Amino acid sequence: MRRPFIAGNWKMHKAPVEADALAESLKRALSEMTAADIAVAPTFLAIPAVVGRLRHSNIGVASQNVAVEAQGAFTGEISAEMLKAAGVQYAIVGHSERRQLFGDTDAVVSKKVQACFRAGLSAILCVGETLPEREAGQVEDVVARQLSAGLADLSADQVSTVTIAYEPVWAIGTGKVATPTQANDVHAYIRSWLGRYPSFVARNVRIQYGGSVKGSNAAGLLSQPEIDGALVGGAALSVEDFTAIVKAAT
Ligand code: 13P
Repeated sequence: MRRPFIAGNWKMHKAPVEADALAESLKRALSEMTAADIAVAPTFLAIPAVVGRLRHSNIGVASQNVAVEAQGAFTGEISAEMLKAAGVQYAIVGHSERRQLFGDTDAVVSKKVQACFRAGLSAILCVGETLPEREAGQVEDVVARQLSAGLADLSADQVSTVTIAYEPVWAIGTGKVATPTQANDVHAYIRSWLGRYPSFVARNVRIQYGGSVKGSNAAGLLSQPEIDGALVGGAALSVEDFTAIVKAAT
């Protein structure tokens, strides 16, 4: 009932010419895979090339971040409105790298989610615990805090359109993937947390897993009942791996 959603976060990789080439290869490799929603998130700089390349394809384009404000004296920022105008559909918000390295607090993440709704971008809200938080038994507390901040002030209808990406920080870029059961348990917790809204919300919200997803482990993760897709980092730069992950989802 929930359509699988696979997104590739290219992080700070691929200058525009290389990004265009990767987009072209993915467009060919994935053209028949219509049973899942698919998106890629290039750097801001490569967005125009990738949007152009993927027009009339089954692959959408996401940004990796958005500014809080729509426009103004905010040096170095790019607004959700500008991204929308450039043909972007989705925005990743609250990625752990932004939270850890660039000061995206829960309050900032909340404003960025609001910015997505203001501009008409679909938000992919990232949540997830660090290793010390997991070891201290705080997974549910951390995820609940991030959800309640990130989804603050949204209507139930709005929440139902958000994608949640559960990305345990200890699994990102480390090759240490959560086991399918570990991931599914947290996804189930997230869905139960969504039970505070009318029931269609928990039924509709798609929850992606992210953290060292590869072609070789995707099937195990994606076959779990509460895992609706993946947010893929490193493996999204490989046409072969990303294709295998999309196949595993469909
Ligand atoms: P890796 O797949 O490289 O672990 O990265 C996951 C991620 O951060 C996606 O947003």
